[in-house]
Amino acid sequence: MTEKPTVVFAKFAAPKKGSVIVLAPEGGELGQAAAAADPAGILPKIFAASEFKGKLAAVVEALAPQGTQYDRLSVVGVGKLDALDEQTWLKIGGAAAMAAKNATDVTVIVDVAGAEPTARDLANIGLGILLRTYVFDKYKTRKDDNGGRKDKEVKFTIQCADPNAAKKAFAEAAAVADGVNLARDLVNEPANVLGPVEFAAKAKELEALGVKVDILTEKEMKRLGMGALLGVAQGSVRPPRLVVMQWNGGKPKQRPVAFIGKGVVFDTGGISIKPASNMEDMKGDMAGAAAVVGLMHALAARKAKTNAVGIIGVVENMPDGSAQRPGDIVTSMSGQTIEIINTDAEGRLVLADALWYCKQEYKPQFMVNLATLTGAIIVALGNSHAGLFCNDDKLAEQLTAAGISTGEKLWRMPMGSEYDKLIDSKNADMKNTGGRHAGSITAAQLLKRFVDDTPWAHLDIAGTAIGSPASEINQSWGSGFGVRLLDRLVADNYEE
Ligand code: BES
Ligand code: MN
Ligand code: ZN
Repeated sequence: MTEKPTVVFAKFAAPKKGSVIVLAPEGGELGQAAAAADPAGILPKIFAASEFKGKLAAVVEALAPQGTQYDRLSVVGVGKLDALDEQTWLKIGGAAAMAAKNATDVTVIVDVAGAEPTARDLANIGLGILLRTYVFDKYKTRKDDNGGRKDKEVKFTIQCADPNAAKKAFAEAAAVADGVNLARDLVNEPANVLGPVEFAAKAKELEALGVKVDILTEKEMKRLGMGALLGVAQGSVRPPRLVVMQWNGGKPKQRPVAFIGKGVVFDTGGISIKPASNMEDMKGDMAGAAAVVGLMHALAARKAKTNAVGIIGVVENMPDGSAQRPGDIVTSMSGQTIEIINTDAEGRLVLADALWYCKQEYKPQFMVNLATLTGAIIVALGNSHAGLFCNDDKLAEQLTAAGISTGEKLWRMPMGSEYDKLIDSKNADMKNTGGRHAGSITAAQLLKRFVDDTPWAHLDIAGTAIGSPASEINQSWGSGFGVRLLDRLVADNYEE
């Protein structure tokens, strides 16, 4: 299995060996320290001979460069100087990690004439490196099958003006990177290995960081009356779990912020079974829950000054002789009854009980749930924005802003009584699908019936958490979407 690289910071000094990376802006010049790493002055010739124009994340390289003992000297473009923002530094880190290929000793010289990267910018380069180098290769038994990185210790040294400040900022970024990569691991893991019990055990490992983790079994959920969640689980031989994670880093009396995740370890659709094509992707139907676990990891690892609770409903949606049928009516923990029209609309049933439980038990300041809830959100927004459904404008604004800063973008969708009435049922309080139109919105309307007046947001991450296109900072099928977003929401608005 490929280990994560080590990232350290150091003062400028011409590197002696290894793979060296310098940065160059569009149309601009190399900084002093960058030029010093090229004693024979080959870079201007390379620029002239190549297509390299300094565009963001573009790379040009020289092997065994003249006048040095390096294996490779690469230049990574930083784009236009006036466009440098948080996202840019993150992408530069990702591009540098890519430019390093399978080198084990990499020096990145962050000296850009005309730019003064802050400690946070430098930390973002490190974060970009940690996110880009993630690979899920634990099931690859041939060492040469992943670009040759396997089993090698890789060290990145980031040279900069103030390494101590950068190192401090990076400690927090590394905690977040670990959270993202943990979420990716959980999403990428196949469902034969990661059933509800195993998933809950993974969450339990957060105790090592000081998170309090309680696991509710089927028996306890029955006692609580969680008929909606249990109805989904009843077709699987693997029993469900409800996991409650608490990080208490804030003032003792401060009400917690709450994050709730859909954890369907595999979604066959149940009796309303899905077609075979791409069904394997449904191993990722627990990406909401994975993001919550990754987030709790990040908050605890960076000792966030906040009280946070994370709740995940972990079930498997299978068809068998005891599976729930279309037409069945279940009673949720809230007392509200739900007529099952389509057993494939299962995520909202799991969340209905998890949200209600969270609200009753923890009286949080707000609740944000994440779920790979509907295919319809992919039709509406594609892979670059997650759907945001919210009953509170302030929370919606905070989330949208966090999305812009982290690049985990959200797009707010409408809600309202016209949509709500589409899930009224003749036979019960509501039905679990609202027909072909506005499929993502009617799903959100169902969730809204389980939050009362708690400020709440639902993030439909079906298009962003799994199978989204590779990027400068993500090459993994499971992207870990939501961890950086919600960590930022907390850091910017809900810490002392
Ligand atoms: N897990 C799926 C949604 C999904 C689809 C996530 C594709 C990721 C990629 C969800 O449980 C589901 O099956 N939703 C149905 C709802 C329908 C039956 C009302 C859908 O979107 O088709
Ligand atoms: Mn489904
Ligand atoms: Zn599902």
